[in-house]
Amino acid sequence: MYKIGIITMSDKGSQGLREDTSGAVIREMAASLGTVEQYRLVPDDPQIIQDTLIEFADVHRLDLVLTTGGTGLGPRDHTPEATLAVIDRQVPGIAEAIRAASLAKTPKAMLSRAVSGIRGSTLIINLPGSVKGVRECLAVVLPVLPHGLEILS
Ligand code: MTE
Repeated sequence: MYKIGIITMSDKGSQGLREDTSGAVIREMAASLGTVEQYRLVPDDPQIIQDTLIEFADVHRLDLVLTTGGTGLGPRDHTPEATLAVIDRQVPGIAEAIRAASLAKTPKAMLSRAVSGIRGSTLIINLPGSVKGVRECLAVVLPVLPHGLEILS
């Protein structure tokens, strides 16, 4: 069983103004892979996102970190840049597969700038912010993750 972290990016959520339903969906769907050992609801602040990703990878040594939100075109959407700033290697195929499968469901999928990559031995995957987006995107990668995480560990 793998050690999993969830980071939800939401200015409103971090102020207690919105319930984190997407984080809850990730928790439910990822249960088949392992245990959620860390969960954080953070504002869309690039430095806080980077610091949280680094902490999850280097201090808690999680195998998988799933992020939700902040991947779009909005001025406060910083998740892809924060992720790219902390990873050692990209895993473009994951983001490509997610986008390809998502485009079959909605053309709005092209508006997600989500990336995936590895820091140390932690795999980080960006997911969009909506519950629908999380469900659809995580369903694409879940079947492949046991093999990916096995190679990484
Ligand atoms: N991908 C899937 N599979 N399903 C969706 O509903 N929503 C899109 C896109 N990706 C969506 C999706 C929309 S509407 C946006 S704006 C972008 O993800 C970015 O979302 P975010 O800014 O909440 O991360």
